[in-house]
Amino acid sequence: MLVELFLSVRTWTALAILASIYHLLLRLRQQPTFPIVNKYPGDFFRRRAYREVRENAKELITAGLAKHQGPITIAIPHGQKIILPSSLTSWVKSNKDLDHKQLVREDFFSGIPGFEALSILHDPDSMLIDLIKTKMGPNDSTLTTMNTTLSHALHTLWGNTNTTKPTWHALNWQTDTMALIARTATSVFAGPQKATDAAWLALVQGYVLAYFSGVADLHRYPRWARPFVHWVLPNAIACRGYVRQARGVMDGMLRERKVERERRAEREGSGGVVRYEDAVEWAEIASGGRARAGDVQLSLAMAALFTTTELFRALLIQVARHPELVGPLREEVVEQVAKHGVSVAAMSNMILLDSFMKESQRLNSGSVVLERIALKDTTLPDGRVIPRGSHIMVDSTDLWNPAVYPDPDQFDGRRFLRKRQEGDTASQFVQSSPNYNVFGGGRHICPGRFFASNELKLALAHILCKYDIRLAKGCEPKNLQHGFYAMVDPSVQLEVRRRDAPTGDLLV
Ligand code: HEM
Repeated sequence: MLVELFLSVRTWTALAILASIYHLLLRLRQQPTFPIVNKYPGDFFRRRAYREVRENAKELITAGLAKHQGPITIAIPHGQKIILPSSLTSWVKSNKDLDHKQLVREDFFSGIPGFEALSILHDPDSMLIDLIKTKMGPNDSTLTTMNTTLSHALHTLWGNTNTTKPTWHALNWQTDTMALIARTATSVFAGPQKATDAAWLALVQGYVLAYFSGVADLHRYPRWARPFVHWVLPNAIACRGYVRQARGVMDGMLRERKVERERRAEREGSGGVVRYEDAVEWAEIASGGRARAGDVQLSLAMAALFTTTELFRALLIQVARHPELVGPLREEVVEQVAKHGVSVAAMSNMILLDSFMKESQRLNSGSVVLERIALKDTTLPDGRVIPRGSHIMVDSTDLWNPAVYPDPDQFDGRRFLRKRQEGDTASQFVQSSPNYNVFGGGRHICPGRFFASNELKLALAHILCKYDIRLAKGCEPKNLQHGFYAMVDPSVQLEVRRRDAPTGDLLV
């Protein structure tokens, strides 16, 4: 009887209605500390308010900050966000009472069964973050692994290698881009074999999709209902399935590795040590076997796949749009790889490519950075107080401010190279600066940015040398904003053709 009631559609519909009423009452009681900029007369159900955030967040922020000359509040469906002006960037970066991990734990529902990936990523002991910093930073051996995987993945996914006369053909924009990044990253996260294992690749990508969709689903319910409702939400159910599968696959892999070690030791004695250069092994050692290997893999996938793929797509669009830069970029890749091999040194010396990537990222960024929660009442430099528990973000619209970046709407692939050559010490892709915080800043700055940088540089090096790229006739990619965040146009049609005389022999 109880089970029937629990599974009944009517029960959950009634709960959803109650939830809406609860939300409405809560909203009426919430008194913002800073003026709400998306409040409109007669917009009782906040339909217009939420539409404005969805479609015009950038304009809401710039106009609101200019009007109020200080922090503003933006109402969103599941609460409020305080937006601080960019002049407070350094203050936020260094303030210990403003925390990123706690915000993510709250906003992305750490603790819900199936969402273990988040729990391990933001674990207070920082095992995984430390591992990303120490093992996935500038590291020649990860580059060698990614190099072989990329080569194979391009053959398989972008094709046209064995024909005598390669032809232009369209990519499957969403899947062929995600798949290339997923395979490349997986070769380091779970080893080269898993990078060609279709079932495993589908599992990690499926989890990322289900996770983010599950988070969006849960935000529609009030806080008190979430611990119950997740049991019946399809994406949360899917997440639990993926976690079970990932744990099973990874536990199997650990068992196989153990057997292999024992065999080798039997055969070769103490000299027969087997080492694996991947995150499965590193996490086992770093956590002393405490972290579940399946959870570690899903965590890495969640942090790395979507973010890197979106930027990869933005880069491909700019390569297609700027044929005048393709020659110089190719030359740089060939020269550096010839000089340094496929190595960190080669990647670091690809300074035009570095600038090209940073400029693409600038034009494809969201309008806020440095998302934090106030762990206690926190006093702003002007004496006003951000109440404990508030969610804050910092305005990042300086990325398109003509006073900071002349001609800001124009793509200028050499922009950051020029700044670097003029002596600017914060113009590299992985660097943050007062006006450029796309990787965040302070103690929570993205630890995976070196990995993302190397993965993207290597992928572009392969593609520039081996393929010609163009947008399909009539395809004009749009710059899409979804709320506070940017989104690469999912309808892009990109065509590629294998080059007759691939350059850069070291890029196997
Ligand atoms: C282009 C790709 C990427 C972008 C744009 C990106 C962006 C970000 C941003 C904005 C933050 C928040 C930092 C802050 O607010 O101060 C962050 C945090 C984080 N990123 Fe990335 N990221 C990318 C790739 C990666 C990759 C490849 C990994 C893992 C290998 C990774 C792992 C993490 C982790 C673990 C955190 C949490 C850090 C903490 O809470 O202390 N990211 N990332």
